[in-house]
Amino acid sequence: MSSSSVFSNSSDTGGQPTGVRLENVSKKFGRLTVFNDVNLKIQDGELFSLVGPSGSGKTTLLRIIAGLEVQDSGHVYIGSNMVDRLGPAKRNIGMVFQDYALYPNKTVIENIMSPLIVKGVKKQEAMSEAEEMAKRLGIGETLDRKPGQISGGQQQRVALARALIKHPDVFLLDEPFSNLDAQLRFSARKFLKEVQREFGITTIYVTHDQSEALSISDRVAVMGNGVIHQVGAPKEIYSSPADEFTATFIGSPPLNVLNMKFSNGTSSPIQLHMDGVAEGEHRVGIRPENISIGSGPNEATITDFEYAGRETIVYLKVGDIELRSIVFDASGLKTGQKVSFDVQKGGVHILD
Ligand SMILES: Nc1ncnc2c1ncn2[C@@H]1O[C@H](COP(=O)(O)OP(=O)(O)OP(=O)(O)O)[C@@H](O)[C@H]1O
Ligand SMILES: [Mg+2]
Repeated sequence: MSSSSVFSNSSDTGGQPTGVRLENVSKKFGRLTVFNDVNLKIQDGELFSLVGPSGSGKTTLLRIIAGLEVQDSGHVYIGSNMVDRLGPAKRNIGMVFQDYALYPNKTVIENIMSPLIVKGVKKQEAMSEAEEMAKRLGIGETLDRKPGQISGGQQQRVALARALIKHPDVFLLDEPFSNLDAQLRFSARKFLKEVQREFGITTIYVTHDQSEALSISDRVAVMGNGVIHQVGAPKEIYSSPADEFTATFIGSPPLNVLNMKFSNGTSSPIQLHMDGVAEGEHRVGIRPENISIGSGPNEATITDFEYAGRETIVYLKVGDIELRSIVFDASGLKTGQKVSFDVQKGGVHILD
């Protein structure tokens, strides 16, 4: 291993495939079934996010891929190798968890080079590689300090550097930025994306934050209660949610979901412009940004506002239905006001 390899293709696979495949993976803890027959295929070099609410099984799945947890049945493949029988150290995986656990008594450079020392790389070589990696990640100035003497964002970079220096085939990240403030999280995400692109490492990123998943990923898997509801590119998941769970989990504020009746080309209780919907009752989702207040065939009363910086969420009441809409200039609107509204074509999803 030479120090210059930090800048070339970091993984030592010599072009071997490094995608991850889960085949009918099931896991129980006692009587709790975390998931049943999960199938997933993550492509070589892909930045893939696993997103879902708390307790949906994301960490457990990541730990199974890492070999830290053993599945009850099914198989895990990295590249073309089935790794079921390999321990974590043999899977050539880099991991960064929410609690990234740097060694508090070691300096930054000692932290970064520690995996190489464990691997038996000579100290001088490990040090020069760690230095190069640190420089690349913008923490070259902090090498002689201890983790307690650097900022949270810098600590995060040390954790990333320590995981990357092993030249992993697969990079696993479990909510690595959840401790950071919004500003730092934004730059950390952008930075991760750049590093991931440059190094081309197959990466699985776990988060419960759907906007984070949409913003960084090549593809996203939406997970709820151990079930993979949809896998697709961010745009696809947002614009064509496969089911009600995905539709309501993805998007902020969430989709409005209601029961609607379609007959003779009209709909009630909300009038929508929609062609090709079968007559009868349907479960329908309406994106808040597709409700436009001001004119249209529907009448509502404004019940509340939520100021969100660039936009305002306006709550509308239509009969006993409450709808969220997004407005960019709410200055002319007030609570109790009666307004007309329209639902733009394309903002409506039939969910059943
Ligand atoms: N070692 C364990 N023993 C028993 N139950 C566990 C164990 N680890 C996790 N669980 C349970 O399995 C389910 C899935 O947990 P997991 O940690 O994978 O969820 P998660 O999606 O990562 O949630 P979060 O977003 O809160 O981190 C939860 O109900 C959890 O309580
Ligand atoms: Mg978790």
